[in-house]
Amino acid sequence: MIPEGPLPADVIAPETTSRGRVLVIDDEPDIRESLEALLASENYRVDLAFNATEGLKKLETSTYDLVLVDLMMPDKSGMEVLEEIRLRDRETPLFMITAYGSIEVAVEALKRGANDYFAKPWDNEKLLIEIERMISKHRLERENTELKRALKQRYSFPNIVGKSERMMKILDLVAQVAASRATILITGETGTGKELIANAIHAYSARSEHPFVPVHSGSVPPDLLESALFGHVKGAFTGAVASRKGYFEIANRGTIFFDEIGTISLETQTKLLRVIQEREFMPLGSTETIRVDVRIVAATNAELKRAVEEGKFREDLYYRLNVINLALPPLRDRKEDIPALVDHFFAKYCKENEKYLDASGRSELRFEPEAMQILMDHLWPGNVRELENVVERAVVLASQTSVPVDVLPEHLLEAKGLRIRRDESGHLTADASLFEIVADYERRKIIEQLETSDWSQTAAAEALRVPLSTLNQKIKRLNIEIRKRGS
Ligand SMILES: Nc1ncnc2c1ncn2[C@@H]1O[C@H](COP(=O)(O)OP(=O)(O)OP(=O)(O)O)[C@@H](O)[C@H]1O
Ligand SMILES: [Mg+2]
Repeated sequence: MIPEGPLPADVIAPETTSRGRVLVIDDEPDIRESLEALLASENYRVDLAFNATEGLKKLETSTYDLVLVDLMMPDKSGMEVLEEIRLRDRETPLFMITAYGSIEVAVEALKRGANDYFAKPWDNEKLLIEIERMISKHRLERENTELKRALKQRYSFPNIVGKSERMMKILDLVAQVAASRATILITGETGTGKELIANAIHAYSARSEHPFVPVHSGSVPPDLLESALFGHVKGAFTGAVASRKGYFEIANRGTIFFDEIGTISLETQTKLLRVIQEREFMPLGSTETIRVDVRIVAATNAELKRAVEEGKFREDLYYRLNVINLALPPLRDRKEDIPALVDHFFAKYCKENEKYLDASGRSELRFEPEAMQILMDHLWPGNVRELENVVERAVVLASQTSVPVDVLPEHLLEAKGLRIRRDESGHLTADASLFEIVADYERRKIIEQLETSDWSQTAAAEALRVPLSTLNQKIKRLNIEIRKRGS
């Protein structure tokens, strides 16, 4: 299993840096293999898809620098694939390859959005030159558009990932309200990025030169919170041996961020309301008021409205805080952001570990499609933070650039029945998921058949009417120990 202590050198040594990621979609194994060998020898990272459906699936969960598509495939024609790819993504360079070359086909392919066309037998040298040329041209163009976009919008959030409609709306709103002094209430489940957004609001305001002071209200004892917020003078209470500035004074001209605003006491709420209204306060034990100019951003993952109804949160303060509400959507409602977040966190943690970075500083780590699918299906109760932890763990544990299912945390695998939890007597646990129940049943049936077939996998596959390769996969996945025949 996972080795304890430092990993051996050969495990952490980065692979040679790649020149780009190429996807080959071709049903002919010979062509796939020869293209893979050719491209790998030139330091490209190659992904193979054996038919159109598989190829489109890969394109959904990963990004590539170039795609090579065969014209004739059993499930869909290359032209159809080309069209489908171009419907979703107009930019990724795409070369058509085929055994049946004709001018008409070439013209048709180019018309439908292919960047180039190669008919068998192609000249490997020429293919490589065109691939290299295309990838660098595309990289340059992409950098250009990104630059233009950033300039046009006048804002960009380099550390916030989110292309989903809902996140784009949030970011638009952030850019729009950042400049004002308006109080903002950020709501959202744990780990959805409330503090990150609060930070962005500050960074994009004219206050950015002044302090951003986060107050983690929930972790400061109530009786200390007031003196922490407003400061105190020497002798204000036992133990106040020197006077101390409070967060409000420190945050002057900047932004104060109240995390878990719902946890502060009614008494402190009253004082907070006063600061918001009067923009002044008195430190504990002082008779002098201090005037401040502070922007307040608050966050809560609890139903603040309900706390108001229950009398635990002042209604007037609630309305004062909630001038503008930013409601961050849970990750399960914007799953299309998952692949980009995964890439972002791979890059972040690879940089920290200086592992697996290619020449342009991009991370080369990727989840295998099966692992990626599990991430797409998971409900993410801990939202982006939970996903970040999963990726960080993968960076630490990965022993090659493509990260297999086994590296995912147990609870993700259990939910899919890829791990079956058992009690001491070997039975399924009482809270087993449907996937676990099915997997357990499948496992027993396979063992039963293997025993009947005297542990011949070929005979068992035949009797169970599945291809031998499927049976082998299941044997491995379900952790079935193969006994010697006749034992
Ligand atoms: N859209 C995003 N892009 C990149 N990183 C993100 C994004 N959203 C959240 N994160 C990261 O996820 C982690 C959790 O985010 P953050 O601390 O802002 O969440 P939170 O909503 O304040 O959580 P909590 O309610 O538990 O305090 C942080 O490391 C943050 O950088
Ligand atoms: Mg937080």
